[in-house]
Order: sequence, then structure tokens, then C-alpha cells
Amino acid sequence: MQPPAPYPPPYAHGPAAPEARPHTGVAVAVALVSCFVMPVVYVALALEILGHRYGGGGSFTPLAVAIAVGFALWITALVLSIRSIVLSGRVGASRAGGIVALVVSVLSVVTAAAATAFGLLMASGGGAHGRPLRVRGRPRTAPTRRDAAWSVDPSGALPDASRLTADERAREAARWTRDAREEHASIAAFARLSVDLLALGAPPGLVERAHRAALDEVLHARLAFALAGAYAGEPVGPEVWPEALEGEAAERPAGTLRRVALESLVDGAYGEGLAALRAAAEVAADPAVAEVLATVARDEAGHAALGWDVLAFCVARDGSLAPALVEAAADLAARADSALERSHAASVRGELGALLAERG
Ligand SMILES: [Fe+2]
Ligand SMILES: [Fe+2]
Repeated sequence: MQPPAPYPPPYAHGPAAPEARPHTGVAVAVALVSCFVMPVVYVALALEILGHRYGGGGSFTPLAVAIAVGFALWITALVLSIRSIVLSGRVGASRAGGIVALVVSVLSVVTAAAATAFGLLMASGGGAHGRPLRVRGRPRTAPTRRDAAWSVDPSGALPDASRLTADERAREAARWTRDAREEHASIAAFARLSVDLLALGAPPGLVERAHRAALDEVLHARLAFALAGAYAGEPVGPEVWPEALEGEAAERPAGTLRRVALESLVDGAYGEGLAALRAAAEVAADPAVAEVLATVARDEAGHAALGWDVLAFCVARDGSLAPALVEAAADLAARADSALERSHAASVRGELGALLAERG
């Protein structure tokens, strides 16, 4: 008896599978869309990260969705372009379209990286930071509370926050609260400087300028608290701040000249000079904000000049401070992480060199 014939394989029956098509046009189109979407997503990501690093609020949720969409587009563009190249080769068609799509999708990562770098560079130029109050070497600021006492006269110009989204208002409120806390701390820093100068037997001109600078900082703090309150929709002011008194006795009198010299270089000449440059470079659409930035830019430049003059006084008093100052200036240059900071650090190093050479 003959064994039964085996069943024919299933693929021997039915219609033939359709030939896969390269869909080169779709691959190119998706790659082009990805090329435009990826840079936007990455700039948004850079700004969001900076916003959070500098104490901004804002939600990550819409950004997470945008990132997911951006990545999905990019991966789809890559897969479609590679598929187009493979299938075009298989059917003997030209692979040029697929290769163009692949190049464009790879280019979208390059444009995204360039856009991110640009976004970070621009964003790092914003925001002014003045002379900090240092407690055992570390900058300190007061906590805040709901309090209108530190806001300027409400009849003064305030920004129009009504056109901003809730997210934008929260970000601006956080930014100006941070600035206000730093300006407020600068008042204490100049108050301390004036006592330091008296302790060191400084001439009256320097003492007077330290007091005037403290008054400038009172105005800056009030202006910044007023902007913070306008964006937050409720008054913002400083909380009681006993920490401002910490470390006073421990730091004095030993090493006062050295500390004043280093603070005048790092926080005055460099820090307040940088604050002036940042405030001058920042473009504000709202005229009330632009006016505050102009005031801050002018005053901080004056405070930086005071820093240089106090530094010259300290160096004249004790020339052995020079190596520590040169090292501190080099450290500033090494820690600079934006184009503005690097160029400013380089100019401070140059000016310090000239000052030390002049003093022998
Ligand atoms: Fe200031
Ligand atoms: Fe200042």
C-alpha cells in the first residue's frame, strides 16, 4: 500500500503576496518633518531644564509629549528611509530617494544639537545676579512669604501679565522671586562690606560708595519683588532671615583683608560686572521689565567698579594677596559655562593682571 501523499504546503495555494513598495516619498516627507520638529523640541527641552535649574516652575507634561512625538518622528523617518533603500535595491529601482531621506533624518539630529547649543547659549545670558551674602563662604538668600511691604509703590509701572499663559506667569514669577532674593541678599553683602572697610581703615570714599550700593540694592530688591508679585498674582516679600547673622563672629577679624579682596574680585568685579552685562543683554518685551533691567544694568556696572576699587585698596595694603587673586580669577575662567561668562572672565583676568602689574 502506498503511503498517502503529503499535504501540499499552504504557501503553494492562494494568491501571491503583494510586492512591498519602497514608499520613498513618504520616507522623505517624514524625514523633512522630523528635521523641523526635532530642533524645536530640543530648544524647548533646553529652556525647560534651565528654567528648573534656576528655580522656575512649569510642567514637564506637554514637553514630555512633544519629546515623545519628536522621537517617534525621527525613528519613523530612519526606519522608512532604510526600508526604502533596501526595497528599492531589491526591485532594481533607484535608491537615491531613500538615501536623501536617510541623510535628512540624520541631519535632523545635527540641527537639533545645534539648536540646543544656541538655546542654552542664549538662555544662559539671561537673569542678573548681584553680590551675594556669603555665610562661611556659601551664598545665602532669605526665604520669601506673602508680603507686600517690599514691593514698590503699586502706582509704578508693572508688567502686563494678562497676555501670558499660567505656565509662563509661573516661570516669570519664579525667575523674579529668585532675582529679588539675590538683590535683597546684596543689601546685606554691602552692609557687611561697609563694616569690613571701616575695620580695615579704608578711605571715606569707599565706605560711602558701599552704603550707596546697599541703597541701590534696596531699590533693586523692591523692583524685583514687585515684578515677582505682578507675575505671581499675589505679593511676594522676604521672610525673617536670622541666617544673615551666622558666621559673622567666626569670620572676623582674622583674614578679613583676604576675604574682602577675594569677595571684591569674585562677587564684585566679576559677579556684579556679569550681572550688569546680563541685564544689559536681556531683551524684555514688556516696558516695565525693560526699565527695571536698565536700572539694574547701570547700577551693577557701578558696583563692579566699586569692587575693583576695593580690590585695589586691598592689594595696596597687602601685596602678598596677588597669588590667591590670580588663582581665583583662573578658577572663575575655568568655571565659566557660557560664552558671556567666558569672555567676561577673560576680561577680568586681564584687568586683574594690569592692576597687579601697576601695583608691582
Ligand atoms: Fe542689584
Ligand atoms: Fe549690585
